[in-house]
Amino acid sequence: MNLKQEVYSVLEQLKDYGDLNGLLIESIDETKGDYCLPCFSLAKTLRKAPMIIADEIAKSLNIDNSNIEKVESVAGYVNFFLNKENVSKNVLNNFVVPKHNSNDKVVCIDYCSVNLAKYMHIGHLKNSFLGESLARLFEHFGYKVVRINYIGDYGTPYGKIIAGLQMWGTDEDVKTRGIDALQEYYVKFCAAEADDENLQQLARDLSKKIEDKDAEIYPIYQQIIEVARKEAERLLDILGIHFDSWKGEASYAEELNDVVKMLDEKGLLSISEGATIVDLSKFDMPPCLVKRSDGASIYASRDIAAAIDRYNTYKFDKMLYLTAVEQKLHFAQFFKVLELADMPFSSSLEHISYGRFSLPSGKISSRHGKQAVLVDLIDYVLDKAKDVIKNRTFSIEKPEDVAMKVAKGVLSFNAINIDRNKDAIFDIDRAFSFEGETAPYMQYTYTRIMSILRKAQGLELDSVEPDYSCLNQTQAFELIKSCCQLDNILSLAIDKRDPSVVLKYCMEMCKTLNKYYTVCKILDDNMAQVKAKLQLLTLVKDVLSTAFNLICIETVEEM
Ligand code: ARG
Repeated sequence: MNLKQEVYSVLEQLKDYGDLNGLLIESIDETKGDYCLPCFSLAKTLRKAPMIIADEIAKSLNIDNSNIEKVESVAGYVNFFLNKENVSKNVLNNFVVPKHNSNDKVVCIDYCSVNLAKYMHIGHLKNSFLGESLARLFEHFGYKVVRINYIGDYGTPYGKIIAGLQMWGTDEDVKTRGIDALQEYYVKFCAAEADDENLQQLARDLSKKIEDKDAEIYPIYQQIIEVARKEAERLLDILGIHFDSWKGEASYAEELNDVVKMLDEKGLLSISEGATIVDLSKFDMPPCLVKRSDGASIYASRDIAAAIDRYNTYKFDKMLYLTAVEQKLHFAQFFKVLELADMPFSSSLEHISYGRFSLPSGKISSRHGKQAVLVDLIDYVLDKAKDVIKNRTFSIEKPEDVAMKVAKGVLSFNAINIDRNKDAIFDIDRAFSFEGETAPYMQYTYTRIMSILRKAQGLELDSVEPDYSCLNQTQAFELIKSCCQLDNILSLAIDKRDPSVVLKYCMEMCKTLNKYYTVCKILDDNMAQVKAKLQLLTLVKDVLSTAFNLICIETVEEM
């Protein structure tokens, strides 16, 4: 039920006041009703004072809607008071979480997209949860979502890893230590080649052999990719994130000639210092490099090939790319090139960027050098979650499962709680508090609903007629109104491409709910009222579990 719409439907009676759409706002305090219509913007066209307009409207409106109780004119505002009891009754008996249909529209989302030559780091945490949450939001709105992890599996880093492996490593070492061994060779090789022209040449030669699918070197490269990808999959699996495609940059490097040919036929190419480029000066952008002077592909040309391939494969209606804001220009450039090349899908491409995300320095000691590496971060958070759960005063049925859900909740919450574009610091210690704005606070709030609903199971309520008047209470009615907001909130989140909107909504509901418990006993002796209150809690539970899932926070039965 859209409550604002109820008020607008009453406003339709007003023919002489122009278009009132978009004017209604939510009242900030109860004494001013639930919605109000400010009349200030009408004063000019109607040539009357706002107070007078508000008076006239309030007097002339015929309230023929049982969801609205009264209308008042105060200082240039028309205040609308909902009939709380009727609204509660309607909402609790009719509300269902809306299902949407997009007519099989397809959205591809390129996220996580990890460079396999390096450890995953805290940036991937932000990227992965933002992407996953957007994926779930699109699914909620009926889209078919294709999750793409466009892995970085191309370039000289792999030549360096193989060089390091050949100099210091063994197959056995790679088998037992996996990604740690590969990273060690890489770091050691990078240090060694810094002032050694021969080693630099060696790495280039090996990279070339990878590209040429050399019979000896290519299988080693494949093995390296396999090990690194397995590790990435393992970590993402812990986070509950799974991809439909892992097709990476290397497979598109092979399509360079097709890309060059296509752009050439459209007359878009020119040569600059031996490199092949598309001039974008008309669009105030530096040229888009397509082919290096040594004939190799480049990040942009691989992305051009990937976009074409994805369109051919999935016929997407939208193709979203998530990366840190630093890559803005790269996306603007190759999107422009695809537009100039008249690609039918060029207007469906969208870059979604986000701000910096970091830990306070020195916060977790890393086994892997200075950087906050994802595996360490996950370990740290999981350990802490286990501690927190162990220290609860009552016994929990499956403490390991609960700790896991709490850990994941903490990670997702902190990845998406700040507006996407803002920089954020992950305050990892505060993140476990059961008070304040945290994931455990939200999960705990949910368990409190569950525990009340469990306790209520023994009550004989079947033949009881619910008394909704008890929901006129401030927080109770606020909860009713919040539940009705769900669909608007989800639409807003998807429009802004920002799941933090959903998170804030959940947080507000949790706060209201906890306040409600402090001022109102749910299971008292008045069964008619108990029944109404339980209906409210059940609705809140359904709304919260839907919203939690969209922001990758799992619900917990007890904690
Ligand atoms: N692998 C790249 C990086 O780590 C991100 C790839 C983003 N997706 C893309 N289609 N360019 O910087």
